[in-house]
Amino acid sequence: MSRRLIILSCFVFFACSKDAILEDQVIVRPEIPSGFPSLPDSPGNQLTAARIKLGKRLFFEKLLSNDNSISCSSCHFQQLAFSDPSPTSLGIQGQIGFRNAQPLFNLGFKEHFFRDGGVNNLRLSSLNPISNPNEMGSDIVSVIKRLKASGRYADDFQLAYQDTISALSILNALECFQRILISGNSKFDQWKRGETELNASEELGRNLFFSSRTNCSSCHGGFNFSSDDFKSNGLFETYADSGRQRITTLASDRGKFAIPSLRNISVTAPYMHNGGIETLEDVLSLYNEGGTNFENKDELIQPLNLTDTEIAALLDFLLTLKDDSFLNNPAYKQ
Ligand code: HEC
Ligand code: HEC
Repeated sequence: MSRRLIILSCFVFFACSKDAILEDQVIVRPEIPSGFPSLPDSPGNQLTAARIKLGKRLFFEKLLSNDNSISCSSCHFQQLAFSDPSPTSLGIQGQIGFRNAQPLFNLGFKEHFFRDGGVNNLRLSSLNPISNPNEMGSDIVSVIKRLKASGRYADDFQLAYQDTISALSILNALECFQRILISGNSKFDQWKRGETELNASEELGRNLFFSSRTNCSSCHGGFNFSSDDFKSNGLFETYADSGRQRITTLASDRGKFAIPSLRNISVTAPYMHNGGIETLEDVLSLYNEGGTNFENKDELIQPLNLTDTEIAALLDFLLTLKDDSFLNNPAYKQ
């Protein structure tokens, strides 16, 4: 190679890699669906392409678990809106958890995490699955060791956070990936934007859902079909899982659980905190009957006396909340 060519190729090489670095540092502003509030900032953890990429790698990384057998994606499947088809998820060595895995979307807008709202910060929420003995059974220090030993991550952490592999950067990166999981393009959203029509049954279901006859939207309302609050819908007469009481210790919070978003509800079966209800039809029967006589049952849960046509319409409406573009979004794939 002539000297000139060597100099030229060096120049091209540096120019390209510098561009790649710059591109990775670009601040990402996810598209926010109409009708949504703006995405609250996550202080000190601005979204960049490199951080999202690292967060995604970690989300699919089995080295996060104690025996390298499971990753976040083992219990949170994209096609199921990042929920789990098992009533209660299997952790390392077949350990069975005690709750149904929640779907993961629109998390950057939420203030409480987990079914009892035990964590108020998305960044910190990843510590729970990593250290829960029924889930990944590990701890953040061991995760750092395993990632370092793999020799596959140092550059990515450097690029994303100008940091070595550290606890904070692991949590930050996982947060970045989870913040871009935004779902707001269901048939219902398209209808709201005037892009499509609802059929007669979906329309009847929509009216029922938002009516004071069913009260569904009093709890499952707003842009995310959840008021981000804790209630009992009278699923049980006595609750094995004390729910919100685990956090507040108040007897009045026993059996109260996070109100789930109903977005993508047709793909997140089984339902409720324990995954105890298999179908949406059965969920609607529970509400139609008005739940049990549990002492903390919310007063809005009353027998509804809906006809079969009305129940079918409510179901048809719930099906319009599925967002295929989210479930198939290539940006979330491994
Ligand atoms: C063994 C299965 C399992 C694994 C592995 C797992 N999760 Fe989960 N996830 C669950 C279960 C079960 C819940 C509900 C737990 C509860 O409410 O106590 C949950 C809840 C969550 C929530 C709360 C969502 C909300 O709306 O409040 C987030 C966020 C989350 N997981 C993220 C992750 C991340 C990130 C990882 C990997 C670091 C991960 N999960 C690994 C089973 C799992
Ligand atoms: C008082 C508040 C409240 C009202 C009113 C209410 N829900 Fe719920 N809903 C909840 C709570 C809380 C849960 C979760 C309970 C649990 O985890 O055990 C839930 C769970 C669900 C689920 C299962 C979600 C999942 O991911 O597991 C569906 C579906 C549902 N509700 C639909 C409806 C419909 C349809 C109506 C109206 C007929 C309605 N809800 C009325 C509070 C309410």
